[in-house]
Amino acid sequence: MAIVIRSPKEIAKMRRSGAALRGVLQVLRDSITPGMTTMDLEKIAEAGIADAGAVAAFKGYHGYPCVLCTSVNEEVVHGIPSAKRTLREGDVVSVDCGLIIDGYYADSATTLPVGKISESAKKLLETTERSLQAAISVVRSGATLGDVGAAVQEVVEEAGFSVVRDFVGHGIGTEMHEEPQIPNFGRRAQGIKLRQGMVLAIEPMVNAGQHKVRVLEDGWTAVTVDGSLSAHFEHTVAVLAEGAEVLTA
Ligand code: MF3
Ligand code: CO
Repeated sequence: MAIVIRSPKEIAKMRRSGAALRGVLQVLRDSITPGMTTMDLEKIAEAGIADAGAVAAFKGYHGYPCVLCTSVNEEVVHGIPSAKRTLREGDVVSVDCGLIIDGYYADSATTLPVGKISESAKKLLETTERSLQAAISVVRSGATLGDVGAAVQEVVEEAGFSVVRDFVGHGIGTEMHEEPQIPNFGRRAQGIKLRQGMVLAIEPMVNAGQHKVRVLEDGWTAVTVDGSLSAHFEHTVAVLAEGAEVLTA
C-alpha cells in the first residue's frame, strides 16, 4: 500500500478528530492526581470519547482491551490501565489515545507528571516534547523522513537521553497505522520525501538511560531494559506546502 495523499476535505475531517482527541487528553491532564489508578484515567478517556461522539481507536485493536494506554515510569508504551495500579506523587504517566470520527483517525500522546516530580524527570519530559516540536518544525513538502528522524534524535542525544528504536510513528487517516513508518532517528536528506496532503503520527519515545526495551508477559507493556524512566509525546500532523498543521494541538 502506497502513502495516501489526503484531500482538503479529508484533512478537514481529521481536524475534527484531532480537536476532539486534544480535548480528551486535556481532561486527563486536568484530572491526574496522586491516589488515582490508571483505570480511573481509562474511565475518563472513555467518557471523553463518548462525549465527543467519537469511537475509540485502540479498544479491540489486535485485541487491546482499553481505549487508552497508560505507561508509568519505566514503561515506554502500551501499558494497560489497571484498577490495581495507583499513581503516586513523583510518577510520570504517558497517556496515549486514539479516536475515530466520521471514519478518520487521530492519535496523540503526552507524558504527564503526577504531583511534584524530580528535576531529572522534568528534563526528560521537556526534552521529549521538544524533540517532537523539532520534528514538526522540519515537516513541509519536500522534506524527508530522514529529516524528521534526525530532528528528534539530535534533540534527544544532545540532552544525554536515548531514542527508542523498536517502535516508530506512522501514517494515519482511514486506518490508525498507514504507510510510511516514521523512525525517531535517521540522517538528514535521506528516505522518502514528504508531500502536501500526507498525514503523519510522529511519536518520539525517549529513555533516560539505554534505548533497549522489552515487552512484558502481558504481551503489550513495553518497558526499558535498564529500568530507566521513559517518556512519549505524539501528534497527528498534516504536511503542508510550506510547513505542517498539527491536527491534535
Ligand atoms: N499510539 C499507539 C500507536 O501509534 C497506539 C497503538 S496501541 C494499541 O501505535 F493499543 F492500539 F494497540
Ligand atoms: Co501512534
